[in-house]
Amino acid sequence: MSLTPSDPSDLLISTRNSHKLREIHAIMADLNLNLIDLGQFPDAPEVEEDQDHLEGNAMKKAEVLFSFTELPTMADDTGLEVAALGGAPGVHSARFAGPMADSAANRALLLKRLHGVDDRRAQFKTVIAFATESGTRVFEGVCGGTITREEKGEGGFGYDSIFKPQGYEQTFAEMAEEEKNRISHRGRALEKFRVYLHALTQSVNKDPQ
Ligand code: IMP
Repeated sequence: MSLTPSDPSDLLISTRNSHKLREIHAIMADLNLNLIDLGQFPDAPEVEEDQDHLEGNAMKKAEVLFSFTELPTMADDTGLEVAALGGAPGVHSARFAGPMADSAANRALLLKRLHGVDDRRAQFKTVIAFATESGTRVFEGVCGGTITREEKGEGGFGYDSIFKPQGYEQTFAEMAEEEKNRISHRGRALEKFRVYLHALTQSVNKDPQ
């Protein structure tokens, strides 16, 4: 198996978010890859998420970290798009309540903006970018649902406690991690990425030496 000519099975996951890392490890577990995280590269540059689209940010992160580490690198960027807010906060989800805002402040502002609003429709979107010597590919996953009127649940992170996926009575924060992974935006994008990697490794294994 070879993702690039330089290293047979290493894959750098370019995130410092422990929740994301756990989700990614759980979904990629059966691929026999050596998943490496940024903890092994303390000098890796912080990549500013300053692009207009999720795809631009994901590609930028993956490409900068690929150049720095020379390892095949995946990076993701996620946004929550709220219909009644014209798709906001979208690519600005992490900084919705200001440049230094934490997730609790972001959730509080979103609930405030939707106070008295009946249209609660929203979707999470994740774009995964995978950068190698051969270029960069992207994989997208979407999960539709609604914004609740109050916080519910203790699990998850970010906006999980105010997002109820379509067809479910629980918020992401009330679900078991495996259940969230099965239906979530990131789970869906990762599944496409997993299928791609699986096909790639199969075709390389079949290649005559
Ligand atoms: P980023 O992809 O880490 O830049 O995330 C952008 C924003 O969306 C941050 O505020 C995250 O906390 C939030 N976010 C990312 N993924 C999820 C998720 O799976 N559930 C809830 N919030 C998320």
